Amino acid sequence: MSTSSAPQAAQTPGPVDRKSFVRTTLDLGDVVLRPWTREDAGSEALLDGLVAAGTDPDIALWNPIAVADRDAARAWVEARDGVWERGAAAPFVALDATDGTLLGGVNLRWVDREDGLAMIGYWLLPAARGRGLATRGTRAVTSWGFATADARRIEIAHAVGNEASCRVADRCGYLPEGTLRDSHVFGDGKYHDEHLHARLSTDPEPAGAEGK
Ligand SMILES: CC(C)(COP(=O)(O)OP(=O)(O)OC[C@H]1O[C@@H](n2cnc3c(N)ncnc32)[C@H](O)[C@@H]1OP(=O)(O)O)[C@@H](O)C(=O)NCCC(=O)NCCS
Repeated sequence: MSTSSAPQAAQTPGPVDRKSFVRTTLDLGDVVLRPWTREDAGSEALLDGLVAAGTDPDIALWNPIAVADRDAARAWVEARDGVWERGAAAPFVALDATDGTLLGGVNLRWVDREDGLAMIGYWLLPAARGRGLATRGTRAVTSWGFATADARRIEIAHAVGNEASCRVADRCGYLPEGTLRDSHVFGDGKYHDEHLHARLSTDPEPAGAEGK
């Protein structure tokens, strides 16, 4: 595994295109974060990885992906390409840099584009968890969102019971701002309280190691 900590951005535009998500590849060394593309819908390995994500109990509870079979996975991938096209969100796929195995995803989306208010989410397949990858990926996409899309404030909202996500938010420098009561219906069909965390573009980079 590479120990490099500074992600290398490729295909980044020159001048900042305000409030636009420009398709960019973020190289974390051992992991590549790149935009989902329409071509990914032709990869059986990626489609099967997505079906595994859609049926994983933790993802189904905290970050449901409506993908139960290859057809649904194909439609999901094509929809991700569409949101890049419309500029509504920046869904990145996380791939093993060596063999292209699907590891997970990080999604930055506008809540209020004019205002520069965005929200970030993440999920990993079980085999990719527990080694700081969500932290590294979220840090990289956060920095990219501030630097290239001119985001002003990025939020993370996670169910109070989702302690792993709370740790990721903390380690990415997203300060806790309080508890939202019965704020979101999760995969169990129930409303849960959520912790709201946020980072401002003017906040310092979080201290400490990025991963483990
Ligand atoms: C949340 C998720 C992305 C974290 O991925 P990860 O790469 O394992 O995260 P990291 O390794 O960067 O950090 C995880 C931290 O949470 C801790 N953690 C992991 N599972 C935990 C659990 N069940 N309870 C409490 N803490 C837990 C880890 O020990 C680590 O803490 P540390 O920094 O003190 O060691 C992953 O668990 C996941 O995909 N969950 C399902 C989808 C989801 O919850 N998405 C977020 C929705 S808001």
